[in-house]
Amino acid sequence: MPPIPLLEVCDLVVRYPARRRTAAPVTAVDGVSLAVAPGETLALVGESGSGKSSTMAAALMLRRPDAGSVRFEGRELTGLPEAELRAVRPAMQPVFQDPFGALSPRLRVRDSVAEPIRAQGRWTREEGPAEVEGLLRKVGLDPGLGGRLPGDLSGGQCQRVGIARALASRPKLLILDEPVSALDPSVRAGVVNLLTGLQRGSGLGYLFISHDLALVRHVAHRVAVMRHGRIVESGPAEQVLTEPEHPYTRLLLSASGPMDTAAGKAAG
Ligand SMILES: Nc1ncnc2c1ncn2[C@@H]1O[C@H](COP(=O)(O)OP(=O)(O)O)[C@@H](O)[C@H]1O
Ligand SMILES: [Mg+2]
Repeated sequence: MPPIPLLEVCDLVVRYPARRRTAAPVTAVDGVSLAVAPGETLALVGESGSGKSSTMAAALMLRRPDAGSVRFEGRELTGLPEAELRAVRPAMQPVFQDPFGALSPRLRVRDSVAEPIRAQGRWTREEGPAEVEGLLRKVGLDPGLGGRLPGDLSGGQCQRVGIARALASRPKLLILDEPVSALDPSVRAGVVNLLTGLQRGSGLGYLFISHDLALVRHVAHRVAVMRHGRIVESGPAEQVLTEPEHPYTRLLLSASGPMDTAAGKAAG
């Protein structure tokens, strides 16, 4: 039997109420199914407005889905009361596009990273600070930055703090929503390499949301292509990105420009 997926989403539906009385409600996610296994990266790709972030919010149960199921390690989350969800949440952590928005502007870096450890009741005066220092090193930051505020950091440094904070709760799954799109192109490759390095040998699963197919080719084991709230094509990354079956995937690929050049840049 294959191992139980970390995350398994089936027939997920997310609707938003109409913004005006005369308008129709928006079905942002319309029957999405996907799964992420331990140690695997599933890239969810699609144009802006295709429903990627709504899928993420529902998978994390930050917004309760209107229909469908969300299982984490086989356990159904959709019916769980908030108190029980709170116990599951540390294991599935988000990383957002805006590196500054994800951190409290008045909290020093070390306190941002310490917060999830405290929230889990694992903080001790002896081991807490060392754990924070270890996490900062793990994401490639000088622990000396611990006393800084997010406003004193670059976008790339800030996103590394966000990743350290996500790792602080010892997750099994990261759901990353365009994690490098807001960063300066010169620091993107460093953060991408950090993410692939963190995964290696760790069993950490990634649901990696991106509109950038050149980047996706670099990180993904499998790819799911989303359009108008639905998955139109999915499969092994190599197959979907080199022999796409769906016309929409072909369109996305042709719009993403020459793959080799872009991948070469990401590797540098
Ligand atoms: N809070 C909201 N209220 C109403 N409509 C929303 C809201 N969030 C997203 N939408 C709509 O849902 C659709 C999918 O959005 P989103 O999940 O953000 O897509 P993506 O992340 O792929 O850009 C879009 O049409 C968007 O306008
Ligand atoms: Mg989005």
